[in-house]
Amino acid sequence: MTDDVLNITQEGPVALIGLNNPPVNALGAALRQGLSDAIRDLDADPSVKVIALYGEGRALSAGADIREFGKPPVPPRLPDVLDQIEGSDTPVVAVMHGTTLGGGLELALAAHARVVLPGARLGLPEVTLGLLPGAGGTQRLPRLVPLEKAIEIISTGRQVPADEALELGLADDMGQGTPQEAARAAAQAVLDGSLPTRPTGGISVTLDRDVLDQAISRLQNRRPALQAPIKAVEAIALAEKPISEGLPGERAAFMDLMDSPDRQGLIHAFTAERAVRHIPESDATPRRIDSAGVIGGGTMGVGIATALITAGIPVTLIEMSAEQADKARVGVMKNLDGAVKRGKMDAAKRDDLARGLTVATDLASLSDVDLVIEAVFEDLEVKTQIFGKLDGICKSGAILATNTSYLDVNRIAAATSRPQDVIGLHFFSPAHVMRLLEVVVADQTAADVVATAFDLAGRMKKVAVRSGVCDGFIGNRILAHYRKVADYMLEDGVSYQQIDRALEDFGFAMGPFAVGDLAGLDIGWATRKRKAPTRPATERYVEIADRICERGWFGRKTGQGYYLYDDPKARTPNPGAQQIVEAERQRAGVTPRDFSDEEIVARYMTAMISEAARVVEEGIALRPIDVDAVFLFGYGFPRHLGGPLNYADRIGARDLIRRIENYSTEDPHYWQVPTLLRELAESGRSFADLNKE
Ligand code: CAA
Repeated sequence: MTDDVLNITQEGPVALIGLNNPPVNALGAALRQGLSDAIRDLDADPSVKVIALYGEGRALSAGADIREFGKPPVPPRLPDVLDQIEGSDTPVVAVMHGTTLGGGLELALAAHARVVLPGARLGLPEVTLGLLPGAGGTQRLPRLVPLEKAIEIISTGRQVPADEALELGLADDMGQGTPQEAARAAAQAVLDGSLPTRPTGGISVTLDRDVLDQAISRLQNRRPALQAPIKAVEAIALAEKPISEGLPGERAAFMDLMDSPDRQGLIHAFTAERAVRHIPESDATPRRIDSAGVIGGGTMGVGIATALITAGIPVTLIEMSAEQADKARVGVMKNLDGAVKRGKMDAAKRDDLARGLTVATDLASLSDVDLVIEAVFEDLEVKTQIFGKLDGICKSGAILATNTSYLDVNRIAAATSRPQDVIGLHFFSPAHVMRLLEVVVADQTAADVVATAFDLAGRMKKVAVRSGVCDGFIGNRILAHYRKVADYMLEDGVSYQQIDRALEDFGFAMGPFAVGDLAGLDIGWATRKRKAPTRPATERYVEIADRICERGWFGRKTGQGYYLYDDPKARTPNPGAQQIVEAERQRAGVTPRDFSDEEIVARYMTAMISEAARVVEEGIALRPIDVDAVFLFGYGFPRHLGGPLNYADRIGARDLIRRIENYSTEDPHYWQVPTLLRELAESGRSFADLNKE
């Protein structure tokens, strides 16, 4: 029998149910209904002695269908289907392969025995979506694995590899062959008694209250203290009761979370990572990239080379001298060693990848590579010279990319006779770690070059976001704007410690002044000097950061900046910097005033949203969700808020305009209402609506 979403076959006493809902067998309404009907019919059929569940394609199932969230529920509900499976008199065995996640793993937990295939990864990632496992996961997992492990797996969403699953008792046996073959073999094992079966819900456990309490208090002390993991651990505590009492408690907590703003933000973040792949150039065929060149062996060049060779693309790295080239090689090795230390790869793999790196001192070594990424000093003159040379050296069809963070890619392209092959690839430091890649499309960049950049990002496991050309592209342009408001508030009377703390309490990993110290204050100083000649006379300019830099205080790397770093763990305000703040307030004739934490956040976020709206309005970003992805994957934006423009919808266009008009009485140059925001307010639409257009 073949349903649309299920392949059901009977082989003697064995019934095989194959989930067939590509790409990931998400448990949407049709699949739930099909499963429910199939279990009912097969359980009632006396010729069927065992039912084996498996997944066609990539996994048993990656869980609930995320696209149904936020919509009215369609019966049957997943928990009811799983209760039906657990209650089946005919034993049900499940084969877990691929990424068996969320509701997919809960489906297996409700079966009477579980077999895992090598390479499978099992997890309950619901907390990463602002939810908890709502189909029995919090009740059944602690009945199978030690409490500490159940808490860890559920509260982090970590994926458990197959061998660990077997060790923990999450799987009863390791299978082999295709999922269907493994299902057939597992069913036989049930029939011959070598694979025992029992309903998970029938197992009783005693849970250590101290372990639960400690886990809850750890999660409550986290910043931000998100509700989903806390409620998930509270739900685990119910597993001591009979399952018929625990399940309703779990369900109630799940439904509460479903309505929470965190859930909306986290699912928006999940969607953003995938939505940004939809670009006008999607249909173009990417060019083949089998080799690459990187010019410049500084931190960026070394990080980019590491990312490329880790993706299996051999790299020739160019530096000015043999000594610098060797230093760059050491840098790449250090990055790879770091990956070994963090358990991301083993030493053999590192040695293999390291063979992919060649260092050289002559641009001519790049004559045969498919892609060149230039990562030298941010200077238009230097970059255009290099591109002029590359034009004469590189083979026809090679892609010439610049890793500039704000310079005009059109001018760089104009230095070559092949502007169609030139593109901006803006990596974020450390380039082998940060997931964001801004793909900067210049006026004449060919569609297949853009498609290649996205393909390359996929190979490097990065999130590529398409950006048009403007100073700073999407991210740094918006940053340059909202960063100023932190300086304005500082000069107006609030301490930088309070600004940092308020924004950290809001959800940022680090406040803007602490970030400046970490990144190096000299970077922003150089940008301000570059922009000084074009700064409008009407723009308010705060000189505090310049005064700090003039002392040679560039942050962590010099031992002091806004904070002192004698003790690398502590963040003590630097009295010298505080004196500078006082002196600058006096010089500017400011009467210092207090700001509440709420006002700090409101001004900072309104400034960020304003510039983000302009970036969308001008078509620099394709959609609001692209801006959200840039901030989520490149700027540490709090994931549960879903990105600046997702957050903007929570405030609403009208309230944002009211705020801006209010602030603009103090500084009409800085605080201007973006046209797009007015349009949204007038038409009653949101940024989310623009994502759908
Ligand atoms: N529901 C609906 N669609 C899903 C999905 C899901 N659970 N999981 C993946 N997809 C879609 C993706 O959106 C993507 O669609 P497009 O091609 O249209 O963009 C497609 O499947 C392929 O996914 P990826 O591009 O992400 O492929 P990948 O190989 O990189 O990753 C994956 C596969 C690991 C399964 C990853 O997609 C993933 O992590 N998915 C989410 C899994 C998850 O969180 N499940 C729990 C759901 S909540 C739940 O189950 C609640 C409950 O208790 C009832």
